[in-house]
Amino acid sequence: MRTHYCNQLSTMDLDTIVTLFGWVDRRRDHGGVIFIDLRDHTGIIQIVSDPKHDSSSYKTAERLRNEYVIKIIGRVSRRPSESLNLKMKTGELEIYADSIEILNVVTKQLPFSISGLDEELIKEETRLKYRYLDLRREKMLKNLQLRHKVIKTIRHYLEDSQNFIEVETPILTRSTPEGARDYLVPSRVSFGQWYALPQSPQLFKQLLMVSGCDRYYQVARCFRDEDLRADRQPEFTQLDMEMSFMSEDEILDLNEGLICHIFKTIKNIELSRPFPRLTYQHAMEKYGTDCPDTRFDLTLVDVSDIVQNSGFKVFSEAVKNLGSVKVLPIPEGNNIISNVRLKPGGDLFQEAIEAGTKGIVYIRVKENSKIETIGAVKENLTDEQKKALLERTDAKPGHLLLISAGSTAMVNKSLSRLRLIIGKQMNLINNSKIDLLWVTEFPLFEWNSDEQRLESLHHPFTCPNSSDLNNLTTARAQAYDLIFNGIEVGGGSLRIYKKDIQEKVFKTIGLSEEEIYSKFQFMLDAFEYGAPPHGGIAYGLDRLIMLLAEEDSIRDVIAFPKTQQASCLLTESPSFVDSKQLKELQVTSTYKSKIQKN
Ligand code: AMO
Repeated sequence: MRTHYCNQLSTMDLDTIVTLFGWVDRRRDHGGVIFIDLRDHTGIIQIVSDPKHDSSSYKTAERLRNEYVIKIIGRVSRRPSESLNLKMKTGELEIYADSIEILNVVTKQLPFSISGLDEELIKEETRLKYRYLDLRREKMLKNLQLRHKVIKTIRHYLEDSQNFIEVETPILTRSTPEGARDYLVPSRVSFGQWYALPQSPQLFKQLLMVSGCDRYYQVARCFRDEDLRADRQPEFTQLDMEMSFMSEDEILDLNEGLICHIFKTIKNIELSRPFPRLTYQHAMEKYGTDCPDTRFDLTLVDVSDIVQNSGFKVFSEAVKNLGSVKVLPIPEGNNIISNVRLKPGGDLFQEAIEAGTKGIVYIRVKENSKIETIGAVKENLTDEQKKALLERTDAKPGHLLLISAGSTAMVNKSLSRLRLIIGKQMNLINNSKIDLLWVTEFPLFEWNSDEQRLESLHHPFTCPNSSDLNNLTTARAQAYDLIFNGIEVGGGSLRIYKKDIQEKVFKTIGLSEEEIYSKFQFMLDAFEYGAPPHGGIAYGLDRLIMLLAEEDSIRDVIAFPKTQQASCLLTESPSFVDSKQLKELQVTSTYKSKIQKN
């Protein structure tokens, strides 16, 4: 029987005989005495095997290799003063082995060393292929433990102090319109018909409100077939919540309580409330994005009115075409950012191009309001325009003004990208700062130029602002996102709960009467049986935990994540299936791979 975990032992246990189980983290042979670092999920303790003390266990110790699984029985002793390791919790102790039993051995070459792994030197693919070994590492184990603790804290808070109940919703379901592609599952019994895996439990949680559930939450797995990045996985976990009879302010307040409780419990940090709130419009104007990192001060300045009549066509045409001209003023930027970086081939130029612009215009501010810029700008700005530009941007000698002109969306995208890169490069971001804020009053719809139609910015169940009901196309939504250090960790809204408004919204996004009824009849019907006013939110739990763990990728807080290509390297999924299985499902694949042909 195990008596203790490795890291549990302390000087209080001196002279106790203990039985421990674990892995050999390291074995050191010190000519006559063997030291073993024994590791379990709590940490490491040093074992000493001395032939003078016990010769049979010493013989076993000689055979030990890294990652062997062992059982040891021995006496807890104090280390001699010259070998104390005060960096380790058990660094004052060692265990004199009376017995060592090998429970299992390692028969293959380890793909990487568990305790000394340098993540920079080992490909993430290797870690993912041998994830069970990667998860033995202290850092990864701590991340999983943190994840567990965050979820436990959330459950405790929501259930015990806020009267929420957890309800599970179906995984095999209909498509939910969250904006990504669906993962589809063919039905074996209803030929030609498909389930969609849920992109979120949105429809069911609203139906739970209609059923009188009042306060629901779920730690819910969601599936979205979309382009992946460091903070996106094809399957991820949401903390999903829905509440009846609450105003937007009440919902935000309850959620601030939850977030503060998580920070206090997990990090012992007291956050101040209420969290700042920025309207979408304000966030876009000042930061060019709806998830601004406000840990640093660089902000965008609109100068469209100043340059609309300038002879520089790039500026004047942008304004004429209902776009904008905006500036990112960078104090002391002249010393830090060279022209090479801003011209074709330069990294900042490239960033602006990737955001859709044709390039970036820059002005360097010198002493006595002199400016240095490209000829076309210098020759085409009047003295008045130049003066107004410098005043509006509060430019001082040394300032670098980065200017983007074109459609407002593109201008915002390019300058917000540059703002982040430059903020990081100039060390303007205080990494110890916790920056949590709400972005509110999103537009209900945005224009999808590919499909030439309006689409919901969040999802079509979001309630329009009551004062904007007369013109839904420009209406603001009663929606809110929670932003944590520039990353969207959660988003939600008050919902439509009246059938006529829901129908109007479906029509505004271009759904025909037929489509509305074939896809959402059950929802519209439910609204006819006394649906209460309700609203909710969903957090990206992986993202929240990634930020709490101070990691850069959600893959580091998910036990078995997928790669950028949405594959699991460990189980090698996705994979081909037997033709018999496909036949049963009445599915034929149009893809003929070389493997199948052979
Ligand atoms: P939304 O689509 O904004 O809202 O999702 C909520 C939160 O989930 C996280 N998230 C993701 N995390 C990892 N990988 C992904 N692919 C991914 N996609 C989204 C984000 C996001 O803020 N039904 C609504 C919520 C509601 O209205 O109540 C919804 O799903 O952190």
